[in-house]
Amino acid sequence: MNTTFERDLEAKGFIDVDIDPTIDLVSEINRLKKEKNAVILAHYYQESEIQDIADYIGDSLGLSQQAAKTDADVIVFAGVHFMAETAKILSPTKKVLLPDLKAGCSLSDSCPPHLFAKFKEQYPDHLVITYVNCTAELKALSDIVCTSSNAVQIVESLPPDQKIIFGPDRNLGAYVKKKTGRDLVLWNGACMVHEIFSQDKIEALHEAYPDAKFIAHPECEDHILAKADYIGSTSGMLKFTIEDPSQTYIVATESGILHQMQKASPTKTFIPAPPNNLCACNDCPHMKLNTLEKLYNCLYYEQPEINLAEDVILRAQKPIERMLQISAQLGL
Ligand code: 13P
Ligand code: SF4
Repeated sequence: MNTTFERDLEAKGFIDVDIDPTIDLVSEINRLKKEKNAVILAHYYQESEIQDIADYIGDSLGLSQQAAKTDADVIVFAGVHFMAETAKILSPTKKVLLPDLKAGCSLSDSCPPHLFAKFKEQYPDHLVITYVNCTAELKALSDIVCTSSNAVQIVESLPPDQKIIFGPDRNLGAYVKKKTGRDLVLWNGACMVHEIFSQDKIEALHEAYPDAKFIAHPECEDHILAKADYIGSTSGMLKFTIEDPSQTYIVATESGILHQMQKASPTKTFIPAPPNNLCACNDCPHMKLNTLEKLYNCLYYEQPEINLAEDVILRAQKPIERMLQISAQLGL
C-alpha cells in the first residue's frame, strides 16, 4: 500500500479511490465476496441498496450471533464501529472490515471508558451490564453485554437482590427498570437519533392516521415510549409489523428499518416518526456514512480493517459470550 493511500485512509476513514463507472457495482461486490470468501453483515439502518446486497441483515443481537458463527474468512460489517468491533471480538482470527471507519455512534461516544471506570468504582458490589452500543474498552469493563432485544431478559435472569449498573443508554436503562421493577444505577448516555423525536408531530400524525399503530425503539425517551402500542428492538418492531393485523404504522426509530418493513408487508403503510427538526424522517448520520461505493472499495482493498489489542479482545469476549449464552438458553 502506498503512503498517499494510507494517509488518505487515516484522514478520511475510508478508501477514496475512483471506481470505474462502467462496472456493475452489485455484481462486482458479489464476485469479490465469492473470491475472498467474505460475508456482508448489515444493520437495518443501512441504505436500502446495502441491505439488498447483504448476506445477513439484522439487529445488534442477530448480527453478533452471525459474527460468532460465520465460517467466512472476511467479515464486511455494514454498520457502525462498535458493531464491527463486536464482530472482531467474537471472531478475532477473521479479517473484519468497516467501509467507513468514521461511522461512529453518539451513544457510544457518550460513555468514555475512563470516566465509566471511575463511575464503576463508586459501586463496587454492583454487576455491570452494558448495552452493546459502546466501545470494546467499555465492554472489557463489563460483566454482561446486552442488546435492545434481550436487555429485559438479561436483567431478569439475575438474582433479584443483585445490584446492577446499566450503561450507557439512560433511556433503555429506564425502560428496563420499568419493565423489571429493578433498581438499576444508570449511566447518563443517549442516542442522538432516538432523542429527537417530536411528540407534537407524532401526535399530529396519529390524528391524521387514527388507525395507525405507533411503534418505538426503547432508545427513545420515556414520554415517547409512553404513547407506544409496541416497544422493541429493530427486529422486534419488524416482526410486530409482520404479525400484527393493522395496515398503518408510525415508526419511531431510524428510518432504514422501513425498507425491510415495506418489503415484508408490501400492502401496509409505514410512516417514519418525525424528528424535532425540519426533516421528515430520522436518519443516523453515522450509519448513513456507508455507501455501496465505500463497501466495494473496502472489499476490493480489504481496508479499513478493525484491529483491537489482544487483551481488550480477551476481556471483552467474556461479557459478550455471556450475553450469547443467556440468549441461547432463553431461545432469543
Ligand atoms: P437494534 O437493531 O439492536 O435494535 O439497535 C438499534 C440501534 O440503535 C443500533 O445502533
Ligand atoms: Fe448510535 Fe443512535 Fe446511530 Fe444507533 S442510531 S448507531 S445508537 S447514534
